[in-house]
Amino acid sequence: MHIVFAASECVPFIKTGGLADVVGSLPKEVAKSGHQVTVYIPFFRQVQSHFPEKKIAISSITIPFEDYNRFVAVVDGGKIDGVQYYFIDCPELFDREGVYSTAAGDYLDNWERFGLFCRSVLEASKELGVPDVFHVHDWQAAMLPVYLRTIYYFDPALRNAGTVLTIHNAGYQGWFPPETTKKLLLPWEIFTMDKLEFYNTFNFLKGGVVYSDMLTTVSHTYAKEIQTPEYGNGLESTLQKRGSDLRGILNGVDYSKWDPESDGKIAAHYTPADLSGKAECKKDLLHAFGASHVNEDAVVLGMVSRLATQKGFDLTAQIIERLVHENIFLIVLGTGEPYYENLFRSLDERFPEKISVRIAYDETLAHKVLAGSDIYLMPSRYEPCGLNQIYSLRYGTVPVVRATGGLEDTVEEWNPEAQTGTGFKFANYYADDYLKAVQRALGVFRDKETWQTLMRNGMAVDYSWTKPAVEYVAVYEEVARRRS
Ligand code: ADP
Ligand code: GLC
Repeated sequence: MHIVFAASECVPFIKTGGLADVVGSLPKEVAKSGHQVTVYIPFFRQVQSHFPEKKIAISSITIPFEDYNRFVAVVDGGKIDGVQYYFIDCPELFDREGVYSTAAGDYLDNWERFGLFCRSVLEASKELGVPDVFHVHDWQAAMLPVYLRTIYYFDPALRNAGTVLTIHNAGYQGWFPPETTKKLLLPWEIFTMDKLEFYNTFNFLKGGVVYSDMLTTVSHTYAKEIQTPEYGNGLESTLQKRGSDLRGILNGVDYSKWDPESDGKIAAHYTPADLSGKAECKKDLLHAFGASHVNEDAVVLGMVSRLATQKGFDLTAQIIERLVHENIFLIVLGTGEPYYENLFRSLDERFPEKISVRIAYDETLAHKVLAGSDIYLMPSRYEPCGLNQIYSLRYGTVPVVRATGGLEDTVEEWNPEAQTGTGFKFANYYADDYLKAVQRALGVFRDKETWQTLMRNGMAVDYSWTKPAVEYVAVYEEVARRRS
């Protein structure tokens, strides 16, 4: 089979979150099993620096709008690990400082940027290879199935291609004014409640949900959650209608990049058999965060994350005041919403002996936090999958998480009698429950031997891509069967 991935992020070219990790690794795993795989992403400014010599695959594709045309080129990124990369180049839309937004907010023409991206992938694939299945990711690529089943319906080159939409985060849907319908040259008949209309907005993700052949999301629990009002962000009934075509496939992780045995970004390597290097990583982490004064027995709690409402930073801010009397030190690495940036800056000022916050996006520091912390905190309000808690397990950094989405599916509560389990969970989004889970962890930490058993339990769990890739191929096969 030939699978085309369309997404807005992909490691190593452009990353703002876990989507990039997934689009960077799943295609390679699918290619390993003998399938032809092509990845398309926009030629953002950050991507350009990877290709100083721009090799052109298609010099010009016309993308029509209401009273003007845009012209895009397709840049050939070559084949890496069996995967062919192409980039949609439209400098007016993609050669910008931010990916989706600037400090002033989201770009107002995101409808045009990602509408054009989707249509360009369809057009490009007619020249470069129409796949059996288009696998599109999140709202930024969700218009592809909409175009395919509306104004491209009669295109003989494309009409047999199937589509799969993966929802990485139902909290971001791409809402735009109703006139977007006309501006993207789509027929008004799709602007109805059973199709793209959503409280009088034009909703990209809803379009993808309605028009894709099959849907997946990134954990079993999240697949159930998004069909409820609490987590569906208004799409729950649309998702319920598609329930029989929706699968939960847990993300894998790339252990060639995230493993303390070989990670080139950390101070010392370690393994379950020899954990001694972790102490050096802890020292190095504290040094990197200007906290070399912290004593060796202090429990280091780490967080690396987008500073977004989704991630539960308000809850962490609440419990920190109640933890300052414990022998702990909190390290936070993140960027995002100004509210949380300021909240954590102010906590850093108030409790310099207990917290160090770095407002930055820094890959090397991210690896150092994962390796050098004792406990990893992820109290998310919702979490479709979550990758950092999976990385933390491999680094022997014990996760404390809220039992939601992928966090529920990847962390098993520690059972002191059976000595099984990999971390600590709490169910309700309450500071008290979170605090209790952290205190359970601190309690076990005092007993070094038991703590090492807990660390090793987590390090032994395998979340590589092998199994999820097989599940995705089964979905592609089902879609291709339905279309044949
Ligand atoms: P989400 O995609 O919702 O942001 P995930 O846990 O799936 O959450 O993935 C987040 C990814 O982004 C991880 O690989 C994490 O290490 C990375 N990341 C998030 N914030 C930062 C940061 N400030 N610096 C470096 N890496 C970050
Ligand atoms: C999203 C989700 C995160 C998930 C990632 C990759 O950004 O917030 O939970 O791990 O996508 O699927």
